[in-house]
Amino acid sequence: MDAIKNLINRKSAKKLELPFPTKEEMNIVYESALRAPDHAWLRPTKFLEFKGDSLKKLSKIFEDFAKKHYSDDELFIEKARMAPFRAPMVIVLITEVKNHPKVPAIEQMLSTGAAAQNILLALNAQGYGGVWKTGKLALNDNITKFFNLGENHHILGYLYIGTKTGEDRKVPEINIEDFVVRH
Ligand SMILES: Cc1cc2nc3c(=O)[nH]c(=O)nc-3n(C[C@H](O)[C@H](O)[C@H](O)COP(=O)(O)O)c2cc1C
Repeated sequence: MDAIKNLINRKSAKKLELPFPTKEEMNIVYESALRAPDHAWLRPTKFLEFKGDSLKKLSKIFEDFAKKHYSDDELFIEKARMAPFRAPMVIVLITEVKNHPKVPAIEQMLSTGAAAQNILLALNAQGYGGVWKTGKLALNDNITKFFNLGENHHILGYLYIGTKTGEDRKVPEINIEDFVVRH
């Protein structure tokens, strides 16, 4: 696919179904992800990949977290339990913050954000879809513990992955001049 078309035309998936990318296709996805800018090459970004039967493991993690921290919210507990089954593959986006005199945690998390976008683009280029989700299940220290990750780990969200189905999202038109001041 033309590189610029891939950048301009990528849209987050509304609904996802099988198939998910093959291992070879996912290797291209991870290779792209790991070429994201990374100050001092600290390699702070880690991924957990769940698909097929292992989505049940992710569901259990989400359910246990919801039961502990939202014990009086039955709706959320059920939503959390079912969340992984919205797509055939889910990648957990993790930043493992390293100590470095010149590279603060925020830069390391931004690097993971850039990796996430590279994943979405590499998926799109290969004919697959994805969408980044956060909500109560990400960006907090409590959820990290349910993945048995250390305190220096941060979950920046989940990429739901598969083959797009149904209508594409309607993306609002943008006027470049509203966002750019040309000096
Ligand atoms: C960090 C981050 C977190 C997001 N969390 C959610 C979320 O929890 N639920 C959701 O529906 N969309 C979430 N979104 C938005 C979608 O991933 C997507 O970007 C948005 O629907 C716009 O679609 P587009 O990417 O095609 O422009 C999040 C986006 C980002 C960047």
